[in-house]
Amino acid sequence: MKKIGVMTTGGDCSGLNTVIQRLYRGATLRGWEFIGILDGTDGLCENPPRIIKFKNDTLPIEAARLAGSFLHNGRADALNFETAAKAGKIERFNKQIRKALLELKLDAIILIGGNGSLSLAWCNKEIYTGLQLVCIPKTIDMDIPLTDRTIGFNTAVQQLTSFCDQLMLTARSHHRWFVTQTMGRDCGQLALNAGIAIGATAILIPEIKFDVDALIKHIKNAPTDYGIILVSEGISLRGHSGKPADMISRKLTAAGIVNRTAYPEHTQRVGDTTAADRILATRMADCALRAIENNETYVMTAINDCKCETVSLKDFFDSGSVTADPNIPDIKTPDAYVSPDDPLLQIATDMGIYIGESK
Ligand code: F6P
Repeated sequence: MKKIGVMTTGGDCSGLNTVIQRLYRGATLRGWEFIGILDGTDGLCENPPRIIKFKNDTLPIEAARLAGSFLHNGRADALNFETAAKAGKIERFNKQIRKALLELKLDAIILIGGNGSLSLAWCNKEIYTGLQLVCIPKTIDMDIPLTDRTIGFNTAVQQLTSFCDQLMLTARSHHRWFVTQTMGRDCGQLALNAGIAIGATAILIPEIKFDVDALIKHIKNAPTDYGIILVSEGISLRGHSGKPADMISRKLTAAGIVNRTAYPEHTQRVGDTTAADRILATRMADCALRAIENNETYVMTAINDCKCETVSLKDFFDSGSVTADPNIPDIKTPDAYVSPDDPLLQIATDMGIYIGESK
């Protein structure tokens, strides 16, 4: 009988509970013992490690659709790879994790995390020697290379779409514009997808240069006198500082365009998990359990060409555009961005959306 542990690390998103519940169910069907580690690496480092043993009613099926992580993701200042690295205590931290994993007698650990967590797991791979490490990618930013989808992205697009759908109604009543700032770090996928869903007038993303005068002209020539300008949090405007939506809003005001700003913030990370995210979570949980059965290790589940399969963490780490992560000294994370030939860019332009000066 195998004993497997699961933990959620990094920022939360919708779909985490679905993966956990499906993992539990699949593990139980195989006759495996299943434990949850609370607060990610923080819980693992405590003496004794903070864990829960799952039973059938621990995470009921009807609760599996809820956002957040039933296992928690850890406080921002808690002991994790990031804070340990910053404090120069990574060696001691690694030792603690290794000790906990051995103490728990785990055969496999499933780490549900984003770019940073997966990169750190790969860079500190000795910790997992002798047990299997299987990762499941989650993030609303959809910036993880080697997978076409990440858990939480679809629900975030839905949340943002619903938020903007409501704004559009008040925008119309008052003949004015809403400059709405999305999350996504330096990846524009969230803004691009939601922008197309709502029929935004403009979508500004970090990957594509834009021109403020062209944006103003586009808004003034738009067929409506109201609408949404979706601005990804990762954009910048030379010579300006502050929140991107505020910067754009000021420019529009100066050009006589009546507007307001809106910040959906963390509402993008919550909301009932969409059916698409639940199905993705179920497929990834199934893939992770099969990987454990097949004795795979240092792998990540991924969706490519509609197939769910594992890719090696090494390939993940060696791919994408590698950038230094300001939060994690000495570590680089591979990032995926909106590619210049993403078909959605041309579609947006053809729909009359100002997307920047891409062509
Ligand atoms: O990476 C996920 C994400 O939601 C980003 O889109 C956003 O910039 C960041 O996390 C917000 O982090 P925090 O929850 O620490 O404010």
